[in-house]
Amino acid sequence: MISEDVIQRVKEENDIVDIVSESVRLKRAGRNYSGLCPFHHEKTPSFSVSVDKQIYKCFGCGEAGNVITFVMKTKNLTFPEAVKLLADRANIDLELDDENKTQKNNFEKLYKINVESARYFFYCLQKNENAKRYLINRGITETTIRRFGLGYSVDKWDGLLKHLKAKGFTELDMSTAGLTIKSQKNSYYDRFRNRIIFPVFNYSGKVIGFGGRVLDDSKPKYLNSPETLLFKKGINLYGLNFAIKNNNSRMFIVVEGYMDCISLHQYGITNAVASLGTALTLNQAKLMKRYADKVIISYDADSAGQMATLRGLEVLKKVGLEVRVLTVPQGKDPDEFIRNNGREAFLKLIDEALSLIDYRMDKLKDGINLNDSDNVIKYAEKVLEVLEELDPLEKEVYIKRLSEETKIRDQALYDIINSEIQKNVNKSENMNIDNNFGQKLYLEPAYLKAERGLLKLMLKDKNAFEYAINIIEKDNLVLDSHKKIFVYIVENIQFDEKEREKRIELKCDDIDTSKEWVNILETNLVYGKYDYTNMISDFVKKIEKYKLEEEKKELMNRIKQYESQGRLEESLKLAQELIEIQKKIGGIQ
Ligand code: UTP
Ligand code: MN
Repeated sequence: MISEDVIQRVKEENDIVDIVSESVRLKRAGRNYSGLCPFHHEKTPSFSVSVDKQIYKCFGCGEAGNVITFVMKTKNLTFPEAVKLLADRANIDLELDDENKTQKNNFEKLYKINVESARYFFYCLQKNENAKRYLINRGITETTIRRFGLGYSVDKWDGLLKHLKAKGFTELDMSTAGLTIKSQKNSYYDRFRNRIIFPVFNYSGKVIGFGGRVLDDSKPKYLNSPETLLFKKGINLYGLNFAIKNNNSRMFIVVEGYMDCISLHQYGITNAVASLGTALTLNQAKLMKRYADKVIISYDADSAGQMATLRGLEVLKKVGLEVRVLTVPQGKDPDEFIRNNGREAFLKLIDEALSLIDYRMDKLKDGINLNDSDNVIKYAEKVLEVLEELDPLEKEVYIKRLSEETKIRDQALYDIINSEIQKNVNKSENMNIDNNFGQKLYLEPAYLKAERGLLKLMLKDKNAFEYAINIIEKDNLVLDSHKKIFVYIVENIQFDEKEREKRIELKCDDIDTSKEWVNILETNLVYGKYDYTNMISDFVKKIEKYKLEEEKKELMNRIKQYESQGRLEESLKLAQELIEIQKKIGGIQ
């Protein structure tokens, strides 16, 4: 039995685009990818892969599913086999999972020791005037210290060590948590000494590790927990636990450092998160995509910062986030800027943040002399390369801008771009697929759509759910996979919508159910608040009608059979039944 946690991880760490690309040639089409469907023969691509939703769907043959079902179908594997293959690919240890319990215990113990350490550091900060003064001098308020649980590690080799020992933790526990280091003489000492401590929380607010900053100019400026079971680089974001609360704008501001993040929060910009020095990873991008649609990057203006920015932008775009770049003037970091200029000034910077294209155009302009014609041409060519990926409307806007800047006529710029496109078209096969992830090229029977619509309503709307379960039960549905999903919805209705969907998705572990689950999620219903009763009875009628028609077919076959065998009496009796069914069908409008 594979645990749901592991299945979840396997899905998160195997991007569907990567997996599908191994057997299908995919081409980017807006936020999705498209290609020739591996499940039926076709000449123009109608197979589409959605990055956001991590699903695939073919508008030609109706196949659909997630990364696991894709592997099951294409490699002809069972569910556990497919999970195993994907787990191996992502270096996820399934064996460990057999010892699920000890694993869980290890996690629990780590959380416990981290919380205890955070408490201790917090206490030490309150006791140490010097450390406290450092933070106050940097403009950090007492409220912020409490909110972020800031602390101090004393200037000793065994401050934390002794404290944790007294609390019953072993030396092994401490070093596993990365809180102590083993000396050459095989004794342990505190990792963090004489540093301001920043506990790092995961998205749900649990302490997973620590960062520690020196109080002067000594090196290294920051020291972080090493990788542990809980603390993994590049899969978390500092401040996310706060930033996801009340983030109605569905926008994050990504900064580099602890202090930048904390400072922005203190000034009421509570959607700031920090990537903690490193370039953004795909995992971090996906994590953000769960809670946001837009991201504003605000990294240091130094060159390392700019490199990190450009790399970061690519992964953010890749998961479908809208990206803008905020540049803090005069090479300041967000912390310094907001302390010197205040909240309003920073909000203005947010407003002025550049779109990705503008930012790239600005970067390309660096060192270019727009009065020198060679320079201008070089610049124009580079910009046009960037513009190639845009949709026609955006392209038009930027070509206009480029034309104004370079004084090259629009038409000349279009000519260059078109000749480039022509080259590319000739290179790849002619793919004239609509990017739209909702266009169907085949017809589906009404009952199928009705069942999906019904399940979708039950899934999304608690009122509709209550109403539906009073008039229909699972066995009224036609498809087995729909029956299963019906039960899963009933079993998980008590959870909030997100959690409900997550749990059901994990249950849908065979190809058919997974396919129908995707189809249900993809079903769009347009309806007003009070329309659900009518819609549900309409769906139920369609399903009823289909069943009666199936019965009718069956009856007609049997009548034919009896007639050919000369069993007239029986055939007449069935004809009577047929009339009844016909009446019932007619009664459904
Ligand atoms: P910065 O030096 O820009 O951080 O490094 P900061 O927050 O602005 O630092 P101060 O306190 O205001 O001077 C950005 C981030 O990079 C990581 C830390 O996570 C830091 O917040 N970093 C930096 C390290 O891990 N180690 C270092 O030695 C330096
Ligand atoms: Mn700083």
